[in-house]
Parts: sequence; C-alpha cells; structure tokens
Amino acid sequence: MLTSLPLLVPPAPISPLLTFNRLSHFPFSPSISAATSASDLLRVVSRRLVLATKTQSITTMTTQEEECMGSVKAQLAKIFETSLKVTVPNEPDVEPLIAACTGKFGDYQCNNAMGLWSKIKGKGTQFRGPPAVGEAIKNNLPTSEMIESCSVAGPGFVNVVLSKNWMAKSIQKMLIEGIDIWAPMPPVKTAVVDFSSPNIAKEMHVGHLRSTIIGDTLARMLEFSKVKVLRRNHVGDWGTQFGMLIEFLFEKFPNFEDATETAIGDLQAFYKASKLRFDSDPAFKERAQQAVVRLQGGEEKYRRAWAQICEISRNEFHKVYQRLGVHLEEKGESFYNPYIPGVIEGLTKQGLVEESQGARVIFIEGVNIPLIVVKSDGGFNYASTDLAALWYRLNEEKAEWIIYVTDVGQQQHFDMVFKAAKLAGWLPQGDNSYPRASHVGFGLVLGEDGKRFRTRNTEVVRLVDLLDEAKSRSKATLIERGKGEQWTEEEIESTADAVGYGAVKYADLKNNRLTNYTFNFDQMLNDKGNTAVYLLYAHARICSIIRRSGKDIEELMNKGTLVLDHKDERDLGLHLLQFAEVVEEATTNLLPNVLCDYLYNLSEIFSKFYSNPECKVIGSDKETSRLLLCEATAVVMRKCFNLLGITPIYKI
Ligand code: ARG
Repeated sequence: MLTSLPLLVPPAPISPLLTFNRLSHFPFSPSISAATSASDLLRVVSRRLVLATKTQSITTMTTQEEECMGSVKAQLAKIFETSLKVTVPNEPDVEPLIAACTGKFGDYQCNNAMGLWSKIKGKGTQFRGPPAVGEAIKNNLPTSEMIESCSVAGPGFVNVVLSKNWMAKSIQKMLIEGIDIWAPMPPVKTAVVDFSSPNIAKEMHVGHLRSTIIGDTLARMLEFSKVKVLRRNHVGDWGTQFGMLIEFLFEKFPNFEDATETAIGDLQAFYKASKLRFDSDPAFKERAQQAVVRLQGGEEKYRRAWAQICEISRNEFHKVYQRLGVHLEEKGESFYNPYIPGVIEGLTKQGLVEESQGARVIFIEGVNIPLIVVKSDGGFNYASTDLAALWYRLNEEKAEWIIYVTDVGQQQHFDMVFKAAKLAGWLPQGDNSYPRASHVGFGLVLGEDGKRFRTRNTEVVRLVDLLDEAKSRSKATLIERGKGEQWTEEEIESTADAVGYGAVKYADLKNNRLTNYTFNFDQMLNDKGNTAVYLLYAHARICSIIRRSGKDIEELMNKGTLVLDHKDERDLGLHLLQFAEVVEEATTNLLPNVLCDYLYNLSEIFSKFYSNPECKVIGSDKETSRLLLCEATAVVMRKCFNLLGITPIYKI
C-alpha cells in the first residue's frame, strides 16, 4: 500500500476563510438537509440543540421512541424534569441532577433541592427551606413504572428505589434486542480519532503503544455509539531527516529499488548510521540537504526512495497492529502539505499571524511562547501540519469531534493549536460545544526501576517482542495447566493471544490515563486481582455455567421470565443496568479506566451472587431466571471486552 502522494497533488487552491464562510452554520446544515420527515427534522434539530447547550452528558433523548432507551440516569432525569417544571414553574431551565446512590436509602438520588432553594429563596417562594423543595419534587413526580418508592433525606435529597420488576424487564429487553439499545447517543455524526501515529524510520516506542491501545478503545466506544469514526494514523512521514535517509539509501544501495526490508534490516539502525554520516561528513550533509529540496520539488527518484523507506516502516508498524487487532487508516503528515500554504494564508488574512525573529507565529493569550507556523528558513513544521490537518478534518471530512491521543508532553502543543483554531473561528469558544477538539493525554510507562520503561540489553523496547513475550508467557501457563492434552493447537494459540494481548491492553487501560504506570508481566498475567486474565476467566466460567445447564438460552430469553427477588440478584441487576451510563461517561470524558472499573466490579458482584447458596442456579426453582441473569452478565462483560479491544474466551 502506498501512502498518499502529496508531491503529485497540485497545491490546493483553497481559501480557508472563504470555505469557512460557506460552512458558517456547520455542523447543523448537513443533517438537517438529510432529514426526511418532520419528526426526523425535529429529532435532528433537538439533538443539535442539545449539542450546543448541554455540556456534561452526551446522552440526548428527544422523541417518544427514544424515551424508553438511554441510561437509567437519563430516564430518571426525564421524569424529574417533569416534576421540576411543576415544582418551580418560574425556573424553566433547571437541569435535573441525578446521581447513583452509594448509601442504603435508594438506588439513585435527585440533588436539585439545595441549588434550587438558593435560587428561589429571595423571590417570595412558599417553600421554607431545601427539605420542603425536595418534598415537593418528590410529590410532583409523575407516576412511572420505573420507580418503586421515593423518600426525602437530609437537606432535600430525593432518593429513588427502582422497581425490581421494571429492572428485570429492562434487562430481559436488552437480552432480546441486543446490547446496542444501551449504547450512548453522542451528539456527533463523525469523529476523527488521531492515534498511534509513530514516526517513519524511528522507533515505535511504548508511548505509541499506549496511544494505539487507548485510541482504539475510544474509537470503539464511539463506533458503538453509532458515530462514524475516522481512525487516523498521523505518521511522521515528512521532515528534513528524509534528505539524510534518502542520500544514505542511494549510497548503500546504488540500485536503491533492491533496498528491501531484509536488505536494510533494522530501519532504526539505518537511521542512526545515516545520522552519524550526516554529522561527520560535510559533503554528505550538503547532498542530504539538496535531497530534501529535490524531494520537496517532487523529483521522481527521490519521491520513490521516500515511499520505499515509508513502506519498510509501515510493515514494521503493521506487525504491532496485527497482534493487537487494531485497525488504522494512514494519513501521514505529508498528506497535509498541499493544504498548509492556503491555511497559513487564511490565518494571515485574518491578522493572526505575526512576524517574530524571522519566523511567522501566532501569539496565544496566556501562553508565553508563540505558536510557530512558518520557521525562519521558510519551512513548515509540526504545528503548521497540525493546523492544516485540523482545517482539513473540519472542512473536508466534516468531523465534529477530533480527538488526539498522545503523551501528556504534547499537551501544550495541542492547547496552542486548538486556541489558534478558536481565534480563527474554526472552533467555537466554549470547550464543551461542537465542533470540538480534544487532546487525550497519557502518562509514561515505567520499568521496575521506576524509570522510563526499557529492556535490559537494548536501549529501547521492541514492541513486537514485548507482545510476543506476553503471548508466550500466557501460552506457557496454559500448557502448565495441562491444556496441551485437552485442547487443539489452535485453541491454545487463540486463547494465548486473547489472554496475552488482553493482559497488556487491560494493564494499560485500567489506570487513569494521565498517571504513569509500571509495566510488569507477572502482575498483568496474574489470574487474581484486577487483571484481564481474572476477568476473562470469570467470563469463561459464566459461559460454562450456562453450558452445563444444558438449556437453550435463546429460548429462555423469549419464553422465560427474569426476576430479581433476592438482594444479590437485585444488586447484580442494578449494576448491569448501569452499563449504559458508565459507557456514556467513559465516552464523554474519554476515560477507558471508567469502563475497566465497571467491568471489574461487575465480576465481583457476580461472584457474590453466584457464591451465595441462596442463589443456587442450576437445579433451583429459579433456574430460568438465574440463567438469564448469568447470560446478561456474560453479554455485558463481552461488550466491555469488545470496547476495550480484548477478545473474550469461552472456556478455561
Ligand atoms: N508522530 C507524533 C509523535 O510520535 C504523534 C502525532 C500525533 N498526532 C498529531 N496530529 N500531531 O509524537
């Protein structure tokens, strides 16, 4: 596969200013014109309105038919909204504040009373304090089959106990219709996730591994939410280092087309050797600098050599993606080259670009260094490319949410690029309105010594080796457990893949991404504690319970009835129902660890249910219902695995 050939593309005749005038009401117009019926239109409009106003949550419920969907929290919010309108008719814009309860008074609570009280107390209200407001909110609730009972506590919290019949029915509905009915509904149609993005001919390091794992999960969560996701590999395939690499390639391989991966060997070593040559031989340096000019001028031979170097790197990267099962679409830095001059010209016309020490820069309020958009030698840089890429994503790809996954070290760069885009009017001022750009930063991977992760003998960790080791360790454990005699070779291989790669991914994703974490094979491959291995085994155990029952679960789903009579059944049911709001939170805040916490808790709550003799599954008179509860747990666990990019296993 060849990358885009930017040098053959004539510089794009674009004027970002003009184009943005055309798109000034973006992103409202495309979906409105696509709406076919009046109700469609209403739906699109109200979805977009929420897009513009609501900031905390991405769930929007606009039509009757959507009302019974969405998370429990969102459904309760709807009910409380009705009550709030009646309780305080003069305060029309009060957003219901609903939270899951941790105490024993209810499952959820409405926290509006106190805030409302401070709003209305000076305005001649008949209420005498927050508890009375809470009491009124409670009394004005419309009847709903969701709610079993309500009570007011302390300074006006309205506690809600959910109806266990409603809970059971909702879970059974999910089983029959599929877990997609619990997917979030973000107010965007198209998103770009810019992730992985290693640099050609340079090392793909653990930072890129983190970006690949986190970015893939975020893309999966958005895809689950029916967002069209452009999974972008923004590889570093441009820059002055290519002059040096190309010249070195010509020197080593007079017939450079022979320079295959095997002939060159390690591209990183090749890079180092060429750098050495560049630094020590002025004549070579001169030729290398000329090579950059000729490459940028589009000379065929140079362009081919460049494409060849890119291809060798690409094959290396691909080995990592293949093991991780991650799919990406490459649009490297070079792709945006033709767009840079037009974008900079547009920004200049807007008066944003200034001259500073020979360079052209954008000054950003609150940041003490300017954003350099044209270097003093007239060349473009990382920031110029990112501005052009952002412009392209907004205008050509019509993305409404653009997400960049890199280490926290690049936070300031993105902060400045986004601020420049706001100054230019490409993005709205507020951080929570759309179109929107988000930087998803992450911390370092540390070794046992607490320093940046490295292997013992080599300077850098080869990611492929790392993944291979995770797999071979989990394979060894399977053999130790005697699976070699019981399973086919293929079963061993696929299970070792799932466990090994799953362990590496989960060990990364379970931490808040901003914190550093220590890479430790023994820890991540432990079958106890909060690890992928423990969770994958827990899932396989549930599957084996269902298998052992000998029942046709599809049939039970449609003919049987799920009930949540026992406390442990109800606790499990409640946690299952909370999947929708958790995945919504993880997606809104771009935090995969929220989903990991949920998954681990689910497995703990399931264990409590399953190990309770009062909740015996097979052979009890509640067998059908409890098997359905097992199945629902397995379905939700599988969805979590799927969103985390982990392949489930079905037997151990
Ligand atoms: N290639 C860069 C690096 O290795 C990451 C690129 C991130 N994406 C972007 N649009 N700047 O650090």
